[in-house]
Amino acid sequence: MESLISKIQAIGTKTLADISAASDLATLEGFRVSVLGKKGSLSEVLKGLGSVSAEERPKIGAAANEVKAKIEGALESKREGLEAKDLEQKLASERLDVSIPARKLHRGSLHPITQTTRRMVEVLSRLGFDLLTGPEIETDYFCFEAVNIPADHPARDQQDTFFMGPGLVLRTQTTAIQTRAMRGKKWPIRILCPGAVYRKDNDATHSPMFHQLEGLWIDKGVKMSDLKGTLEFFAKEMFGSATRVRLRPSYFSFVEPGAEIDVSCFKCDGKDPSCKICKGTGWMEILGAGMVHPKLLELAGYDPKEVSGFAFGMGIDRIAMMAHDVPDLRLLFEGDQRFNSQF
Ligand code: PHE
Repeated sequence: MESLISKIQAIGTKTLADISAASDLATLEGFRVSVLGKKGSLSEVLKGLGSVSAEERPKIGAAANEVKAKIEGALESKREGLEAKDLEQKLASERLDVSIPARKLHRGSLHPITQTTRRMVEVLSRLGFDLLTGPEIETDYFCFEAVNIPADHPARDQQDTFFMGPGLVLRTQTTAIQTRAMRGKKWPIRILCPGAVYRKDNDATHSPMFHQLEGLWIDKGVKMSDLKGTLEFFAKEMFGSATRVRLRPSYFSFVEPGAEIDVSCFKCDGKDPSCKICKGTGWMEILGAGMVHPKLLELAGYDPKEVSGFAFGMGIDRIAMMAHDVPDLRLLFEGDQRFNSQF
């Protein structure tokens, strides 16, 4: 009997020492199984109880229970200690550094043509112009016939116009919107018409699709000086207050008289003979304009003796190119995000 009790106590002493030395939860669990498990050392010793006398049995049982309770207590408190240590390690290694800068979001930007169009419209709408758009697939009638371009006019040539089907074209100019705007509507009319136009052209300064901004003002007593004043205001707002404007006589079938309008070079003001923007001339041609042809007024049912008007049309893309120093028009339409996001 003595020997069984001392075996039990020896197991207890060794196990308690092992538990106190354990450095992780897995090792701890290993000790528990190897001592208290079904085939553990303590369980094995207790199997020998059968051969012990009934009188001795309770003493050995009590000794075994005491050792078992000690081991369980030691296991429990060691486990708590190791779990706390584990948690601390985890917290230390998985710490979030909230001061690290956030990842950059990729934000889109407005295309330079959109930006330029908005700026132009914003400037001119301060003079009371309203916005009006028209279809890009246009009838031959509105694109040509109604703006005084007869059937045999070279502007209709296959080389310029994209034909879409009988009587339909891709509009070659926003001037196509003029007659649409006047039709069935009484004057006064003061509109701005931005939009894409199409011509069979493709090189560094011409694209098959480009953008124009058309202006039309019809009212009693509108004069050529109103046209010049409007464009002067526009040029100064767009290019700076020192900008000057000049008119050169020109021909467009839908105006009489017609003019081409130049603005003084905002880059060099004529002082740099090698200026890329004005090519040393000091002037940049930005638009065509003139007094609305009486034929167009008559077509709309207006009396040319009672009302008059002016119209102008300008290329938006060229103005965007000049403003941002873009060397090739085609860059604007390639959709390259590296180019587009610079503006
Ligand atoms: N539509 C002309 C062009 O495309 C520009 C213009 C518009 C000229 C209005 C005069 C009046 O060149």
